[in-house]
Amino acid sequence: MSRFKRVLITLTTLVVIVGLALGGGSLWLFSDAKVSSVGAGFSRELAIPPLAKSTVKRDGTRVFDLTMQAGQKEFRPGLKTPTWGFNGAFLGPTLRAERGEKVQVRIKNKLGEESTVHWHGMHLPAKMDGGPHQMIAPGVTWSPHWTVDQPAASLWYHPHPHGRTERHVQRGLAGMFLLDDAKSARLALPERYGVDDLPVIVQDVRFDGAKFDSGHKLMRNVGFLGDRTMVNGTLDPYKEVGDELVRLRLLNASTARTYDFGFSDNRKFSLVGTDGGLLEKAVGLDRIQLSPGERAETVVRMKPGERTVLRSYPQTNYGDFWQSRFSGADDTFDVLELRAKDTLRPSPGIPARLGEPEVPDGSDSVRERSFGLLMSGINGRPMAMDRIDQTVVRGTAETWTVRNDDGVPHNFHVHDVQFRVLEVDGKQPPPELRGAKDTVFVPGSQTVKLAMRFTGPADPDTPYMYHCHLLYHEDIGMMGQFVVVEKGQKAGTVRTPHSHVGH
Ligand code: C2O
Ligand code: CU
Ligand code: CU
Repeated sequence: MSRFKRVLITLTTLVVIVGLALGGGSLWLFSDAKVSSVGAGFSRELAIPPLAKSTVKRDGTRVFDLTMQAGQKEFRPGLKTPTWGFNGAFLGPTLRAERGEKVQVRIKNKLGEESTVHWHGMHLPAKMDGGPHQMIAPGVTWSPHWTVDQPAASLWYHPHPHGRTERHVQRGLAGMFLLDDAKSARLALPERYGVDDLPVIVQDVRFDGAKFDSGHKLMRNVGFLGDRTMVNGTLDPYKEVGDELVRLRLLNASTARTYDFGFSDNRKFSLVGTDGGLLEKAVGLDRIQLSPGERAETVVRMKPGERTVLRSYPQTNYGDFWQSRFSGADDTFDVLELRAKDTLRPSPGIPARLGEPEVPDGSDSVRERSFGLLMSGINGRPMAMDRIDQTVVRGTAETWTVRNDDGVPHNFHVHDVQFRVLEVDGKQPPPELRGAKDTVFVPGSQTVKLAMRFTGPADPDTPYMYHCHLLYHEDIGMMGQFVVVEKGQKAGTVRTPHSHVGH
């Protein structure tokens, strides 16, 4: 054999071996990436976050107190997990207020590191928004206040420190903020908190011994994905219910995972509300997809003595099969088992008319803007704290077109407003996207058109955020800033918070 031939054979063998190893490696990676928690069982009673106590000041302001603190929680017997929470070890109490009420939240930061608290879905002045410009230094109390001026809805709160939101939320800093109004109070919907009206805060989690494992696995472009789920901080949860109709206020508080909720027996449920409040009419569905940050109010009918499981099903709309697998689309989770008592309290039917979403229909939009989503930034630019990207005029409506330019799934959240989804890829949105929304899933190559109105108040120097709510993406710069100004006014200059100096 010539020397040349021998070299050729060795090289070919090497290439084949490396090729096989790579192929085998990716095959292993690919099949290892799919997870399912079906059949794990339901052994713990669902925890219900307590309703936050409040006091009412002489001027009528309802005042809440939240303390951000470190703690430990035994998610599993004998294993103490280091956590963060509001007024407790993990998650936070449910705040509740009425439309028209003045509210104030006094937040004390006892974390030993700076953070913020943002009111997701709330219409309020930019200074009170709790975005990355309203940092709370360790030991300091921040006391934002505003008047609730929007329809009844299931909102939530969580930290928003630029570059560290994923970590702060994942350690346990999140809670619900429920709003009521005069109309919603009169509706015959299940409304006994923790009884037939249940907060369902869904998060995915992975453990490394006693500790949370928050590492990003190989190929996971979306950020952290857990291998099991918990509801309200309870693993393998069940809830006994004693009413024919049960309202589930679903909140996807996961950092990157998108769920497609349905029931294990494929029963239909009624969707009664979206992010920003009640729909006009209930919609019968068997699945509801929620990306991080989104909420859905659903009502499910139970029969005496039966059990059913709220499950998250595999999804087919994330993009190509590779992205789908590594973004969690192929995963299945048993989320929560509902166990009906042998005799159930009769519930009235769901009212024919529910709410009136207060979102514009696009016909009076004075301006169109477009947003291209890439992991490297929105419209080609990563977030900069001192750059105002968009200036909108108080009182006007606009149409925003948001396009996913990536293969990676994203979503889009706008602070301060609720929007109407006008179109998804040029077509009428599906029924579950026809209510008031503040966050919308935008998977690979999809385009959504949104209409929203900015009612102010104007503040040219303090921006609100818009961003991808996959928190790893938000942290690495998929975020932009807008200010609301009076007509004829220009955007001001953003003062970066003092507590940011040195970061
Ligand atoms: Cu729920 Cu800007 O966040
Ligand atoms: Cu928000
Ligand atoms: Cu994203």
